[in-house]
Amino acid sequence: MSLQARDSRVIWHPFTQVATSAKNIPIVRAEGVWLYAEDGQKYLDGTASWWVNAHGHANPIIAASINKQALTLEHIIFAGFTHQPAVELAEKLIKFIQGNQTRIFYSDNGSTSVEVALKMALQYFHNQGSPRKKIIAFEQAYHGDTFGAMSVGHRNAFSAAFGELLFNVEFIPAPEKDKTSESLDLFSKIIHKNDVAAFIFEPLVQGANGMRMHDAETLSQIIDLARKNKVITIADEVFTGFYRTGKALATHHLNNKPDIICLSKTLTGGTLPLGVTAVPEFIYDAFVSENPLHTFFHGHSFTANPLSCSAAIASLELLLEETCQENILRISNAHKTFKKRIQENKNIFEIRHLGTILAIELKTQNERGYLNPISKEITQFFLDRNIYLRPLGNVIYITPPYVISTDELNLIYQAILEFLDTIQ
Ligand SMILES: Cc1ncc(COP(=O)(O)O)c(C=O)c1O
Repeated sequence: MSLQARDSRVIWHPFTQVATSAKNIPIVRAEGVWLYAEDGQKYLDGTASWWVNAHGHANPIIAASINKQALTLEHIIFAGFTHQPAVELAEKLIKFIQGNQTRIFYSDNGSTSVEVALKMALQYFHNQGSPRKKIIAFEQAYHGDTFGAMSVGHRNAFSAAFGELLFNVEFIPAPEKDKTSESLDLFSKIIHKNDVAAFIFEPLVQGANGMRMHDAETLSQIIDLARKNKVITIADEVFTGFYRTGKALATHHLNNKPDIICLSKTLTGGTLPLGVTAVPEFIYDAFVSENPLHTFFHGHSFTANPLSCSAAIASLELLLEETCQENILRISNAHKTFKKRIQENKNIFEIRHLGTILAIELKTQNERGYLNPISKEITQFFLDRNIYLRPLGNVIYITPPYVISTDELNLIYQAILEFLDTIQ
């Protein structure tokens, strides 16, 4: 029996409606940007496997680092113990972040890094005896699939079944071009009562919301306002971190810096799960106390898993190498040129580009967004040309692994041109 047939008997896949979806493609191995399927086909991974991969699949340097660590120390409970990869990675990340973050809290993925940030912000005020309960987030946000992360995310099809169980959040529009003053005004109105604990945001790019981008200047002003009102700012850099937007972090494009930073996805180069919540000393200090109730009672079995940490150390070193930095710039320049080439196309509503992200939003008769039915048609069109893209509704986007060559990028651009030609 084929892998696909065996899979369909025993596996439940994420974000997949079995009744209407195409069958999951069995991948038997991968190398660089190429995924090799059981039936002999190969696919160019144009989205870096859900935005995680930086240095290519089965990267030998990261694999060697994990292998060495696995033969030394594969895992140890992280309460009462510590280890070299966790400490080394924390030191490296603090340097990499270049902000006022001094402490690294480890968890397992993007959603948990957000849960940790929200809980820390709320307990920060609780520990000081002046609780604040309100949280502000951007409309259309996506911060993950656990309950806290869902609560601060846009209430849509993803969370519809859980509506009343999610906690109340104040949503303001993201400061897109036409909404900058509305966003800023609403923010300053809400924080007026001094009961807001935290403001969480995806800096500059709302990935899951179709790579929608907003204004750095207004976001900086919002952060400034938050700071003046002692509202903790949480930058969810799970998608935007590690040069996805061209700079090390998306918040490096801002004049004002956040208090807490959430990282995951590209953190390990896309090899193993790991989440990080980086915090400044003033938040950490609020949990250091003789009172046991001031402890941050949060942890996971695999917190700071040594294999994940060793993968992240290797990935970070590769990221900072000249070759990778040149690749990131090369991809960004190529996107810029391609954007110019297609910007007058009659089938395009808007093209958005920042760093290694290129998003092409198609004109549509249906509602914009994730559930737009054209996505299935797009996916199949590109699969037929040995390219894997995962459109967000009517938005085709490219977020490639940084090792993609110019020829490989051109294969994607060429297929996009062909697709645009097929639309009447
Ligand atoms: C901005 C952002 N935050 C959080 C998450 C959740 O991350 P994970 O899927 O690792 O839980 C995602 C996932 O796409 C994301 O884009």
